[in-house]
Amino acid sequence: MAPSGRRKTPEELRSYQWYGVDDLHGFGHRSRTKQMGFAKEDFAGKPVIAVINTWSEINQCHSHFKQRAEEVKRGVWQAGGFPVELPAMSLSEPFVKPSTMLYRNMLSMEAEELLRSHPMDGAVLMGGCDKTTPALLMAAASMNIPSIFVPAGPMLRGNWRGETLGSGTDTWKYWAERRAGNITEEDWEEIEGGIARSPGHCMTMGTASTMTSVAEVLGMTLPGAASIPAADSNHPRMATASGRRIVDMVWEDMTPREVMTMDAIENAITTVMTLGGSTNAAIHILAIAARNGHDVSLELLDDLSRKTPVLADMRPSGRFLMEDFYYAGGLRGLLNRLRDLLHLDCVTANGKTLGDNLDDAGVYNDEVIRTRDNPMSDEGGLVVLRGNLAPDGAVVKHTAADPKLLKHVGPAIVFKSHRDLLERIDDPDLDVTADSVLVMQNSGPVGGPGMPEWGMLPIPQKLLKEGVRDMVRISDARMSGTSYGTCVLHVAPESFVGGPLGLVQDGDMIELDIMGRRLDLQVSDEELAKRRESWTPPKPHYPRGYGWMFTQHIQQADKGCDFDFLQSSELVDEPEVH
Ligand code: FES
Repeated sequence: MAPSGRRKTPEELRSYQWYGVDDLHGFGHRSRTKQMGFAKEDFAGKPVIAVINTWSEINQCHSHFKQRAEEVKRGVWQAGGFPVELPAMSLSEPFVKPSTMLYRNMLSMEAEELLRSHPMDGAVLMGGCDKTTPALLMAAASMNIPSIFVPAGPMLRGNWRGETLGSGTDTWKYWAERRAGNITEEDWEEIEGGIARSPGHCMTMGTASTMTSVAEVLGMTLPGAASIPAADSNHPRMATASGRRIVDMVWEDMTPREVMTMDAIENAITTVMTLGGSTNAAIHILAIAARNGHDVSLELLDDLSRKTPVLADMRPSGRFLMEDFYYAGGLRGLLNRLRDLLHLDCVTANGKTLGDNLDDAGVYNDEVIRTRDNPMSDEGGLVVLRGNLAPDGAVVKHTAADPKLLKHVGPAIVFKSHRDLLERIDDPDLDVTADSVLVMQNSGPVGGPGMPEWGMLPIPQKLLKEGVRDMVRISDARMSGTSYGTCVLHVAPESFVGGPLGLVQDGDMIELDIMGRRLDLQVSDEELAKRRESWTPPKPHYPRGYGWMFTQHIQQADKGCDFDFLQSSELVDEPEVH
């Protein structure tokens, strides 16, 4: 039951304005629905449920969504609702260029406006591939009609010659081995065929698994939903149960903002930390929080990170994959071990509290989900850095870094852009050693554009051949949640708009102190002021179109990279229906 404890009447349904009114427009809506073969009994007086489906033929992670949408609809029909499937942008992580992050806000706008402009009383949001989850949660918060999220579920473990492969993570690992000349072209092709072998999103603790877990702990899914592998028959049953549940959520008038409270946001941050989750969550959670009217700073993430042990032994920081996590007890099992660090009274999609939902959750493998006295690390996986190189913050996933590099001083090697990096990184004459600090500029929200996942700068080939596998790397880009290494990311403000990262020159000494939360350029203020005076802004990327709008309105990483005009929590008036 919703916190308010009241149930709507059919006349109070939003869709009543379209279907229930005896006027010319009501006639039009009813007759056009009948045109599609539905009878009055199918829709009259029933909650209309949007099934927002991010399926497309170019989103590999959502390839099962055509079928899952049918299973969601089955649940909606069972519970006495009227399901309407609405396709939305699918944002396939590998295929969309220059970066899906350029389009996260566009999907959130699309989903919000799809709900607003149609006779929808509630929504089932189907996502999973990285940006789709935050985009749909942002839309739900802004539209604020009852909504439930159906996560795509992780794909099965990858396999190559008996070895378990993790999507993303092992791609980088074996690519480094190939560049070092340690594996053949045939090996590489076999890996290509074995690394992603079922529907579902990446099965490492990358951005997808992190953000679907965030959706669950926020209370926006049914309990346990985020950990179920896409190929498991529990997955379609969860989809159908979500379809049934949304109908009741509409009658109960249980809205996203009643669920995504500030306490729930804190739970989400704690969960990211204990999972050793993706650095991208730092951006998405800030954006989701702001849409719900909560002001969250990077410091809150750092504070909660310091209090939260990493209990999930998951790649890329650890050893296991989502399929193992599910069999070990999944997110519910893990969170049950962390009860004292969570706000257990938060209400969730099934109408019960988070605490109620965790009560009977067990853990069946203490290696995958560690005990409190044997954590992967005592602190969470994310550190927020500040210093003269990142006045508005930067993040690093220290659990995926070489411990030797947690404190490091080294000379900068500066790449002006990603293109510059690709052209020179393997140059045998590049004056680089394992102590160098690789700096990439102009790869942030405006500069990338769209803050692409270029932040795991490749190790120069000549160092790879010497056995070097990690170096300090700094950029204003993001990094795939499946990546690893000592990569300082999200440096704000970004270099393209005049941030100090754009003033770094070859040979400048950079000091990184991860446990001290510092990132400093050892260059005097006078010298930096001189460089700033002669700095000229790069040429804008877009003369027109969506890209132009994006670069005019995108905010920096420390604000969640939402558009300034979307970030308000103010509700928009309903459209005039008659
Ligand atoms: Fe879709 Fe990784 S490619 S989640």
